[in-house]
Amino acid sequence: MKQRILTGITTTGTPHIGNYIGAIKPAIKNVNKFDESFFFLADYHSIIKTNNLEKINESVKNVALSWLCSDLDINKSVFYRQSDVPEILELTWILNCVTAKGLMNRAHAYKSAVSENTKEPDKGINMGLFSYPILMAADILMFDANFVPVGSDQIQHIEMTRDIANRFNYLYKETFNIPEALISSNNEVVPGVDGKKMSKSYKNIIPLLSSESELKKSIMKIVTNSLEPGEPKDHKDCTIFNLYKHFSTKEELKIFENEYADGISWGEAKNKLFNKINSELLEVREKYTELNNQPDLINDLLSDGAKKARSIAKEKILSVREAVGINKL
Ligand code: TRP
Repeated sequence: MKQRILTGITTTGTPHIGNYIGAIKPAIKNVNKFDESFFFLADYHSIIKTNNLEKINESVKNVALSWLCSDLDINKSVFYRQSDVPEILELTWILNCVTAKGLMNRAHAYKSAVSENTKEPDKGINMGLFSYPILMAADILMFDANFVPVGSDQIQHIEMTRDIANRFNYLYKETFNIPEALISSNNEVVPGVDGKKMSKSYKNIIPLLSSESELKKSIMKIVTNSLEPGEPKDHKDCTIFNLYKHFSTKEELKIFENEYADGISWGEAKNKLFNKINSELLEVREKYTELNNQPDLINDLLSDGAKKARSIAKEKILSVREAVGINKL
């Protein structure tokens, strides 16, 4: 049996170095480990959180560019936009009808939104947020994914997907494969310029699709202590060192560690980090400059991916319809 992985990226915001290390690079590595890989831009997920059309469009473009420019082999993987496969929404409705409301009551995203409300528990909560795990289940079950690479915050959603699939298979007939979460073993936090986890909401990111000078500027902003050049420095808990770790070999890291002990200046350490990240991103930047001005080409690549994904989805939805009794008379 062919082993298929599938994962989605919600299109809110612009990818940063943290996403590159935590999601994009591991996904690209996975392409060689599994028989088939599906990656998609979860744009229907993004409208749960925002109604800013420009932002969504910009994000779809930037997320697509980040993946396409990061050495993703689109001949070996299927890369598409969720909204190009409308069968996913049809499946979402059908799964809605086999999902217990009580299961959704327990979803983290919904519970945390409720806990932020003081008077009316459901204030400001739309049905999209409430039933979001069902859309995610449809994304996964539509393609009978075996493994779903996700961050640990998404494990619950994969458990729910399994519950929903099992219930469907039990109520009707064996229709869906039961997927498993694939949690990356390198779960080390990628720090932002202030040392906290790199995140858009902390405004501490180092952008991925940036020019050389922008990259340099972000790295120079990294907060350090006030130890002078020549004074021995502790590499542990140092943001510069912890970022360097994600881009270097063990040997390079050992050398850097010794340089800390020998009293490398913060300026030199930042320069070293800059050169390291910059050289890794040279190729990404080159491809980005080339693709960024060719929206038609991006659209073509996405529609090629959609064609492949949709042909599978069309077939699958027929068997699902048949299973639930939505048939020709
Ligand atoms: N909810 C996921 C996140 O926020 C994104 C996502 C949407 C996804 N559909 C998916 C991930 C299907 C894996 C499989 O990160």
